[in-house]
Amino acid sequence: MDLHKKWWKEAVVYQIYPRSFYDSNGDGIGDLPGIIEKLDYLQELGVDVIWLNPIYKSPNADNGYDISDYYDIMDEFGTMEDFDRLLNEAHKRGIKIVMDLVVNHTSDEHKWFLESKKSKDSLYRNFYFWRPGKNGKPPNNWTSFFGGPAWEYDPQTGEYYLHLFATKQPDLNWDNPQVRQEVYKMIKWWLEKGIDGFRMDVINLISKVEGLPDDEEGEKTGGLIGFKYYANGPRVHEYLQEMNREVLSKYDIMTVGETPFVTPEIAKLYVEYDRNELNMIFHFEHMDMDCEGSKWNVKSWKLTDLKKIMYKWYLALKDKGWNSLYLNNHDQPRMVSRFGNDKKYRVESAKLLATLLHTWQGTPYIYQGEEIGMTNCKFESIDEFRDIETLNFYREMKEKGMSDDSILEILNKRSRDHARTPMQWDDSENAGFTTGKPWIKVNPNYKEINVKKALADKGSIFYYYKKLIQLRKRYPVIVYGDVQMLL
Ligand code: GLC
Ligand code: CA
Repeated sequence: MDLHKKWWKEAVVYQIYPRSFYDSNGDGIGDLPGIIEKLDYLQELGVDVIWLNPIYKSPNADNGYDISDYYDIMDEFGTMEDFDRLLNEAHKRGIKIVMDLVVNHTSDEHKWFLESKKSKDSLYRNFYFWRPGKNGKPPNNWTSFFGGPAWEYDPQTGEYYLHLFATKQPDLNWDNPQVRQEVYKMIKWWLEKGIDGFRMDVINLISKVEGLPDDEEGEKTGGLIGFKYYANGPRVHEYLQEMNREVLSKYDIMTVGETPFVTPEIAKLYVEYDRNELNMIFHFEHMDMDCEGSKWNVKSWKLTDLKKIMYKWYLALKDKGWNSLYLNNHDQPRMVSRFGNDKKYRVESAKLLATLLHTWQGTPYIYQGEEIGMTNCKFESIDEFRDIETLNFYREMKEKGMSDDSILEILNKRSRDHARTPMQWDDSENAGFTTGKPWIKVNPNYKEINVKKALADKGSIFYYYKKLIQLRKRYPVIVYGDVQMLL
């Protein structure tokens, strides 16, 4: 029995990808007023917390994960007044709001970056990683998560800057205390507004090894090169403890870090109660279970693989920290298509997976549409995709000579766009998501799978989720009790 009672352990979190949730003004893009209109729906489901994917000002190279102003709202999503109204309306219904915190990088259109690129002695130069090239090549051999080198040359000062993600996402230099103070100030500003916590984007990548060395081993094995020099880097715990001490600990909030490349042993360092860093993390071990080398290279998996992973993480953190429970999100294929059967046994597998998530020990995260059993989408051609990771991958594979059909086959399993097709509200045009032209294709199965239909059927996946959420509230043993494998 876990004796550390916390509201965020008892909570069920619902993740909203605002761009694809509900469009209130017919421009084809979901928005904050759209979320407000659907709060009653979420209250009916019974969730306690909404995690919003980034809604800050952004040129949208990576759908809001490239932020140009942390203190303002993305034009397409509405205004700060809309946000304040959303927060207020959610709180009125007993629903908390957790924001995405994207501080490993900013947009290249953020004023810090615009200043830093002006000259080598700009006061902001050291907010980012600027380095001279090596023999006409980038400063080291690291590659980007979105393909190609992790460095971009800027002719203005003749140096390169580091970007672990897109070229429009330059990495912030956390070793600079000024950067950290700016970030803490911004966190405080949002917490003072009354938000209830943060999901921290790739937060375990913020500390890079000094000297940014070449990754020679990585070059031999292929795949992503360089991560051993920044994943769970040398000062990451120092920075998280500082952030906790200076801001987080002063508020009754929840925090969850997105952390690729962690084992349970490493995870403990982030979440153990006496370390004062984060409440939970999202690990990737079960997300890596069905692929090898890279996310694009799919392999088969067994139910026992999943059981082993779940049990291992439970045991590792038991009584010392807390797990988050998820099977999909905005970066992953739909869980029912990936871990279940999205045709004949769609409803059964959706309910089965939901049972696992809501009765295991940890905080369950529902990704929008999961509660009605939304599935992967059948993309017919490359121009139906929108995601930068997908489009970069397509370009790279074309250059290597792969055929469109073969690339499409991979993308139809793995693209992040499966999660990003619009929420299916009813069987009217565009699934009731927008009266305009949706920014991304609507899954053609919306006539069959939609909220309206789910609400009209007492045996639906939706009502099953509702019941699971109620059970967690009625029986604390589901939240705090111990788990034992029978088989
Ligand atoms: C995280 C986000 C993903 C984003 C990336 C860069 O993995 O979940 O959507 O593209 O970080 O910010
Ligand atoms: Ca809109």
